[in-house]
Amino acid sequence: MSKIKPSKGAPYARILGVGGYRPTRVVPNEVILETIDSSDEWIRSRSGIETRHWANDEETVAAMSIEASGKAIADAGITAEQIGGVIVSTVSHFKQTPAVATEIADKLGTNKAAAFDISAGCAGFGYGLTLAKGMVVEGSAEYVLVIGVERLSDLTDLEDRATAFLFGDGAGAVVVGPSNEPAIGPTVWGSEGDKSETIKQTVPWTDYRTGQVEKFPAITQEGQAVFRWAVFEMAKVAQQALDAAGISSSDLDVFIPHQANERIIDSMVKTLKLPGSVTVARDVRTTGNTSAASIPLAMERLLATGEAKSGDTALVIGFGAGLVYAATVVTLP
Ligand SMILES: CC(C)(COP(=O)(O)OP(=O)(O)OC[C@H]1O[C@@H](n2cnc3c(N)ncnc32)[C@H](O)[C@@H]1OP(=O)(O)O)[C@@H](O)C(=O)NCCC(=O)NCCS
Repeated sequence: MSKIKPSKGAPYARILGVGGYRPTRVVPNEVILETIDSSDEWIRSRSGIETRHWANDEETVAAMSIEASGKAIADAGITAEQIGGVIVSTVSHFKQTPAVATEIADKLGTNKAAAFDISAGCAGFGYGLTLAKGMVVEGSAEYVLVIGVERLSDLTDLEDRATAFLFGDGAGAVVVGPSNEPAIGPTVWGSEGDKSETIKQTVPWTDYRTGQVEKFPAITQEGQAVFRWAVFEMAKVAQQALDAAGISSSDLDVFIPHQANERIIDSMVKTLKLPGSVTVARDVRTTGNTSAASIPLAMERLLATGEAKSGDTALVIGFGAGLVYAATVVTLP
């Protein structure tokens, strides 16, 4: 018989608070048109994007994360010392080691919280949320901070017509903590590495260092292939997450899909047959695609504007580079 005592966690976990940070510089489509042959009308009609935010030198991955996290901690009504885990999801922190999560955990004033970074592209928030739920229920932390943060402007080739208009910068954070009732449903997640070439960094850093390429590496994608995959496959995953949570689309109050492209959002709403009463996040219009930050940023905005309210039942789904995806039903903080 095992001599190990069972760990004592909370019966369930929930999102207790959310916070966001958007860089001060707002970049309209006109700025994008300085480097690619396109039009404001084309960008709006093909992607829904009107403006995005680009970070300045002071708005680092850590600085934006700390701002968003401070708001999430205050929103949750706890103090930083109570946080036992900090998970940062990002693909645009340019220091390989140490993890930026440790700096954030320290500067926020946590009491030596466990801290690590994860790389799961635009599904990063859902991956982090799933890990955080596990930590709270397993008992290795009472409160866990999940941060999605990106400075994608650093990884954007402004001369690439397929991506120059898509990406933005920002940070979103949530505090996950104990709950007496289920408030984060089972996650439906996975990866399709056979499609890894459809969204990727142009070349490895080492090719740039050794002078094999002149251009700094950037994110590139096969727009149409990604679009088709998102529209056909992700609606199925979203439905599986509803089924796993034991609810139907008519039970939903809010839908927060990854903010990649408004046409993908419209298509998913249609396929899932979401009733008109469901509030749909369309933060992509003024935030662009901020990858791991997009879902918490959209969540924060819906709650701040009153379009969604605390206690609402929301379906969140992230998908992107990998290809990877994660969908789950949550109760809003
Ligand atoms: C990027 C995206 C908006 C492009 O839209 P699209 O309709 O697929 O565009 P296509 O690449 O098929 O090009 C259609 C036409 O527009 C043109 N075009 C491409 N980029 C353009 C641009 N920036 N401005 C103007 N015209 C453009 C093409 O040349 C093509 O012209 P043609 O029909 O005369 O050959 C779309 O594919 C998309 O959103 N994909 C998914 C992106 C995404 O979500 N990525 C992140 C996932 S995490």
